[in-house]
Amino acid sequence: MPAIAIIGAQWGDEGKGKATDLLGSRVDYVVKFNGGNNAGHTVVIDRGDKQEKYALHLLPSGILTPGCTPVIGNGVVVDLAVLFEELEGLDARGVDTSRLRVSANAHVIADYNRTLDKVTERFLGSRRIGTTGRGIGPTYADKMNRVGIRIQDIFDEKILRQKVEGVLDLKGQILTKVYNRRPATVDETVEELLAYAERLAPMVSDTGLLLNQALDRGETVLLEAGQATLLDVDHGTYPFVTSSSATSGGACTGSGIPPTRLEQVIGIVKAYTTRVGEGPFPTELHDDAGEHLRKVGAEFGTTTGRPRRCGWYDAVIARYAARVNGVTDFVLTKLDVLTGLERVPVCVAYDVDGTRHDEMPVNQTDFHHAVPIYEYLDGWWEDISGARTFADLPANARRYVEAVEEMSGARISAVGVGPSRAATVVRHELI
Ligand code: GDP
Ligand code: IMO
Ligand code: MG
Repeated sequence: MPAIAIIGAQWGDEGKGKATDLLGSRVDYVVKFNGGNNAGHTVVIDRGDKQEKYALHLLPSGILTPGCTPVIGNGVVVDLAVLFEELEGLDARGVDTSRLRVSANAHVIADYNRTLDKVTERFLGSRRIGTTGRGIGPTYADKMNRVGIRIQDIFDEKILRQKVEGVLDLKGQILTKVYNRRPATVDETVEELLAYAERLAPMVSDTGLLLNQALDRGETVLLEAGQATLLDVDHGTYPFVTSSSATSGGACTGSGIPPTRLEQVIGIVKAYTTRVGEGPFPTELHDDAGEHLRKVGAEFGTTTGRPRRCGWYDAVIARYAARVNGVTDFVLTKLDVLTGLERVPVCVAYDVDGTRHDEMPVNQTDFHHAVPIYEYLDGWWEDISGARTFADLPANARRYVEAVEEMSGARISAVGVGPSRAATVVRHELI
């Protein structure tokens, strides 16, 4: 059986958590392959007539599915305090977390990198990225700079101390002399990390080997992205991106599963667009329509609580995401949020200083200047949250899905009509 990737097709918060949860019962492993606790996935589970809400940051959403093995892959950056806090939170709610496996090669977010993330943003002022302040960027920078601390280092105090000393030699100076901050000492840092060793040890393994062996046995592995295509460090709106590979290529490098085993890429795309933090966003609305989407869609960050910037669907971006990731199926989420609009604008291309662009402009300045060219589709008024088949949707909602599908470069296999697992219209079976 294959490896399948789930990726975000816009700027994050498309509903990847819900999609992963939806497929969880049909897969054996769910792997987080990039990012860290900058992610925020809300999963709503129906228990009888009650709904239970879970907010996950570091753990893969598959941890909520009984029988499924959750894996934190080598491409992830791990804040150990957050890891154990999330595990304890789930344990307290009766979720079995004992199957979690953590890659020995994943990097660890140390205290100095959390501090550096925050002080750098403050230093940047109006040029800030709007990061989540979790230490993600500085930790990936250390990884690339070959001075990172990995999970496996925590089990060898001598090595750990050597590495922390090496990195703090420089970072301590930067924190003190540039930012006027007293950094944690080598001893404090080593002690903090060592404190997790005993609890961490049983979870740590060669997850690349584990996953490839599972695939050899015919089991199914779902690779769940944090962040999204336009936040990818290579393919996103650089520099207003996160510091990891959130696209389907990252699913391979971040897990140790080779590209030849990846058979399906499911792109999660919202029926409109949102973005958190700074950076260009052509279809952003600064008027009542944007406020309406934020309110009806409850568009406030799961991680930082920040209001999300809202705008109309952007088919140029969806086509780009389809191309970069090799999307085989889209899941169009939050269609219910568009109910009650007379006309629904969809961006089909950009006008950049008088020139039409049907594809993402390669030049950053052009993208900043991109003005959306809209097509207007007729809206619908009927409550669609109870729809379970495509035929249950009103004609104009069906037309919206079909029109967006036509423009976006891959078939739309499922449509979200509400936050819960059941509130999904499946047009083509996903697995
Ligand atoms: P992720 O980061 O991609 O996992 O997405 P988030 O969980 O940050 O944000 C998506 C939000 O939309 C969550 O609160 C979900 O519960 C909710 N959601 C997902 N799909 C749907 C849908 O089809 N309709 C509605 N109304 N809410 C949805
Ligand atoms: P999920 O997985 C939305 C954004 C931040 C900031 C930029 C860099 O829930 O879709 P970072 O802390 O990663 O260095 O911040 O990326 N960002 C997200 N936006 N959803 C996310 O994750 C995000 N993770 C990071 O707001 O603009
Ligand atoms: Mg999110």
